[in-house]
Amino acid sequence: MQTTSMHGMWSSRLAFIFAATGSAVGLGNIWRFPYTAGEYGGGAFVLVYLLCVAAIGVPIMIAEIMLGRRGRQSPINSMRALAEQAGASRAWQLLGWMGILSGFLILSFYSVIAGWTLAYVFRAGAGLFEGIDGAASEAIFSALVADPERLLAWHTVFMVLVVMVVARGVASGLEMAVRVLMPTLFLLLVVMVLYASQAGDFAAGLSYLFTPDFGELRANAGDAILSAMGQAFFSLSLGMGAIMIYGSYLSSHASIGGNVAIIAGMDTLVALLAGLAIFPIVFAQGLEPSSGPGLIFQTLPVAFGQMPFGAFFGVLFFLLLAFAAWTSAISLLEPMVAYLVENKGFSRVRAALLAGVAVWLLGIACLLSLNAWAGFTVFGKGILDLFDYLTANVLLPLGGIFIAIFAGWVLDETVSRDELSATNGAVLYRIWRGLIRWLAPVCVILVFLNAVGLI
Ligand code: PFF
Repeated sequence: MQTTSMHGMWSSRLAFIFAATGSAVGLGNIWRFPYTAGEYGGGAFVLVYLLCVAAIGVPIMIAEIMLGRRGRQSPINSMRALAEQAGASRAWQLLGWMGILSGFLILSFYSVIAGWTLAYVFRAGAGLFEGIDGAASEAIFSALVADPERLLAWHTVFMVLVVMVVARGVASGLEMAVRVLMPTLFLLLVVMVLYASQAGDFAAGLSYLFTPDFGELRANAGDAILSAMGQAFFSLSLGMGAIMIYGSYLSSHASIGGNVAIIAGMDTLVALLAGLAIFPIVFAQGLEPSSGPGLIFQTLPVAFGQMPFGAFFGVLFFLLLAFAAWTSAISLLEPMVAYLVENKGFSRVRAALLAGVAVWLLGIACLLSLNAWAGFTVFGKGILDLFDYLTANVLLPLGGIFIAIFAGWVLDETVSRDELSATNGAVLYRIWRGLIRWLAPVCVILVFLNAVGLI
């Protein structure tokens, strides 16, 4: 069994927690969670999402980290090696390939949205939000997404930033940045929740998020449940090898279960705080909770435009959000880059550039789908929306099923006991094993079947 990775190692257990939290906390929490919760009517969606995080997300995260640490290579090669050791088919490496595809598709649109965030740093700084109402805010947003050149410029800036870190190796540099900036983002979110509780319709926001209205859910239950589960996978960075590769840089001595509890807990907290900062303003301003991917970009500027020192807070907020997106994007690119280094013998710089350019090109299709190619739709969705829906709701949960089956059924029990430092009769281990063998894969399959109308 290998004890280190050729791509470098985290300097400590804390470094791993920061990096993995950096991957988990991103646009998924602050941009995607509120707008999807809004699209599916709030409380009931949030409840299903929380259940999915606890019952499916946490055990799968443990499994992914464990597989990565045991394999110590890119997800493709780790899966191949672990399958060989277990006497199973080499086809398990397809899981790694599927992860690369998911990472590729996700990063292509993720970078475009991160670009919006960068653009908003400057709009906030220029005082553009001063005194605006909901309608004016919507106009600012529409003007941005209608302008392919601007979107391209910001998408490019963001991808350059991502490639720069990945080219150097993620273990160096990432930790320091996350250690300072993540707590700042967290504090700022708390400030915004406090502001929303004063200036927004806090009671309406709270009840929208936390009072499940199952009637609302039933109207479109299959799709809503699928989306809540997809959101859990997306937000926790599961199902595509991102957390797996971060696990491969983790020391063999660190305990996995405890780390996962912290990472998943922080990720969920940030999503809920984002919801609490946004929905009170949505209701106070008469905005639509279901207005889609533009939601936070249409609502938060109204708050910044009214609060004291709003320009300052606005700049800080969008800057930190861009930063959170950056630490997630790095983990989306890393599996492909590690694979290119391992199998093609590329230097990290060359591998990062190649993967980065490919993602950048696909990102152009995503940003054009917001304006010039708006007429081109598949299943009623433009390219960006389609990639967003397809990756979170189909590809990541599918990857999750295979991870669960491999970790629970294919991998020798002695290996998972060893990795999770379980002694004989350890209760937590037994619970995990039950969840990963039965509950997680069965739930995901049922949600899939339900969504396509078979049950
Ligand atoms: N978890 C990230 C977020 O919530 O923004 C997005 C993400 C990163 C998804 C890495 C998947 C992944 F593998």
